[in-house]
Amino acid sequence: MKVTVVGAGAVGASCAEYIAIKDFASEVVLLDIKEGYAEGKAMDLMQTASLNGFDTKITGVTNDYSKTAGSDICVITSGIPRKPGMTREELIGINAGIVKTVATSLVEQSPNTILIVVSNPMDTMTYLAHKSINLPKNKIIGMGGALDSARFKYRLAEALKAPISDVDGMVIGGHSDTGMVPLTSHATRNSIKVSEFLSEDRLNQVKEDTKVGGATLTKLLGTSAWYAPGAAVSALVQAIACDQKKIFPCSTYLEGEYGLNDICIGVPVILGRNGIEEIVDIPLSNAEKEHMQSSAEGVRKTNGLLDL
Ligand code: LAC
Repeated sequence: MKVTVVGAGAVGASCAEYIAIKDFASEVVLLDIKEGYAEGKAMDLMQTASLNGFDTKITGVTNDYSKTAGSDICVITSGIPRKPGMTREELIGINAGIVKTVATSLVEQSPNTILIVVSNPMDTMTYLAHKSINLPKNKIIGMGGALDSARFKYRLAEALKAPISDVDGMVIGGHSDTGMVPLTSHATRNSIKVSEFLSEDRLNQVKEDTKVGGATLTKLLGTSAWYAPGAAVSALVQAIACDQKKIFPCSTYLEGEYGLNDICIGVPVILGRNGIEEIVDIPLSNAEKEHMQSSAEGVRKTNGLLDL
């Protein structure tokens, strides 16, 4: 199993690290445009192998896509991260050109790869990948919902004063401060609906804290987060590589599902060796349906800025 991660910045390097620590891939290639940077990160990570007990071989390359040839899974983290006060949508001007070039170069070397898009604005970058490269829709996956759901579970556990392992929940919709749809109606604590434990006001607070999860960290860190994004990508990569058939909310191209067409947005999917193996249609409350529609409008507005 060969995995390529493009972008050796904080998210890309965390992603490579978590993949290696889980020890399911034989090889991870880390690629960056900055001379020597990916090589340095790869060497540093490889020097953790004996300490952290993994055999995954991590190599770093400077912009040499030939070294990524034959990758089973490719992850795009390249582009600029947001700074405090910025929305993810504001990154489109710079990131669209980068994502298009990177996706094209990756697929030239690995025509059968599964592509995971992480760069922001993620749903629009996933849509751009659909429109600009020749891969079937099950093989182009946007990572946002897995991260937003992890943040939702963190906030739920905090409100419930429960261990995170007791909590389950999912965030669908666009990966943006207004677009995220935390599904409080489906969230549970050990199979009991969280509404049994939390007031509507407290649940609304959980929802709001979840939606600005990335922005809160950007303000604290001065740049966007990397541990949870890296861990979320590694969970998707593992589900595909190990054919786990796990459900994650991922941004995927919709053709009528959830009443939406010609858009990439987060919905629950089953991930396995073929990438997105099934889109799972779940019942939503009326408020969640409305929120999903307005979220889609927001994503479409950003898609409209693309030069397709
Ligand atoms: C975040 C970035 C990765 O939400 O979008 O932290």
